[in-house]
Amino acid sequence: MIDYYSLKWIDGKVRMIDQRLLPQDVVYLDYTDYREVAVAIRDMVIRGAPAIGAAAGYALALAAYQSKAASIDELRRELEEAALVIKAARPTAVNLFWAVDRVMAGVRSAPAKTTEELMEVVFFEADTIAQEDIEMCRCIGLNALSIVPDKARFIHHCNTGALATVGIGSALGIIRTAHEAGKDVFVYVDETRPRLQGARLTAWELKQLGIPHAVIADGASGYVMKYRGVDIVTVGCDRIAANGDVANKIGTYNLALVAKAHGVPFYSVGPTSTIDLNTPNGDGIEIEERDPTEVTRIGCEQIAPEGTPAVNPAFDVTPHELLTGIITEEGIAYPPFDQSLAELVAKAQKRRLAALKK
Ligand code: MRU
Repeated sequence: MIDYYSLKWIDGKVRMIDQRLLPQDVVYLDYTDYREVAVAIRDMVIRGAPAIGAAAGYALALAAYQSKAASIDELRRELEEAALVIKAARPTAVNLFWAVDRVMAGVRSAPAKTTEELMEVVFFEADTIAQEDIEMCRCIGLNALSIVPDKARFIHHCNTGALATVGIGSALGIIRTAHEAGKDVFVYVDETRPRLQGARLTAWELKQLGIPHAVIADGASGYVMKYRGVDIVTVGCDRIAANGDVANKIGTYNLALVAKAHGVPFYSVGPTSTIDLNTPNGDGIEIEERDPTEVTRIGCEQIAPEGTPAVNPAFDVTPHELLTGIITEEGIAYPPFDQSLAELVAKAQKRRLAALKK
């Protein structure tokens, strides 16, 4: 088994595994410039909503440490500019905006007197975001134990494991926790076209963990549910609107419809930082459109005729009516989601305030 991690702050650098090269090559890249981290997020060296949030926080720490600002006001101005660059990296995962806003709230309000003190404030907040994710993933896994049957055949979409978070993962973390608790777990892994996060990344993580699995084509979920049997579907989330509509990797909506047709419980899983109470419903979520060649090629290989037009929405929105529940570190939200999600967000805020007072 390979010991691996998505990202770490090491000696003033952000080290990230290059997820574009997995599973063939395990390569870590070091970053010292916040602009390069923004490009790495856009190019999907690092991906997955919580990992993107952590990378964004650390990118601001790099911006602070690389600054030559002569005064604290100048450093604050530079950080405001860096925040805009980092936020422009990808539009859908709210964790990116949440992390940048959280660090910048510290920058704006900290009673720091020197540039060095302000740098420390930025690093502390960024590192706290990353460290908190580890505990959040652990709690998500434990919170889900009661709803995972002792013998559980899952379908999982995209990649939501340790590569997509700082901890053990969200939806995949649930599967890992159930497996480690002694449940008999099997995972059908959606390949997740066009970038194959399922076939490349989730299958690789499950192999490292020794969890039985099989990759299926995205279009096979109906067949698998009807003829092989599936007990539960778990997917991640990039943004959860206040009414419970969930933006996640393209194909999630189709999978939710198939699950509904077969009466299979369908859960979206993520930390409360993915809940965006400022967005009333899924129509307000910006969906990233990526390069059409991601669809017309597989990796570097052209598969459609040269010049074939393609559309490539990277995410879709699953209406809340198709969800059984939303699993977070604070508990499981059930319908009516507008009420239950607001309660979980309030609980998370209360817990954070209490931790700050300690
Ligand atoms: O485009 P990606 O690979 O960043 O998309 C990832 C997903 O859609 C995940 O399901 C989501 O970010 C949750 S990861 C814990």
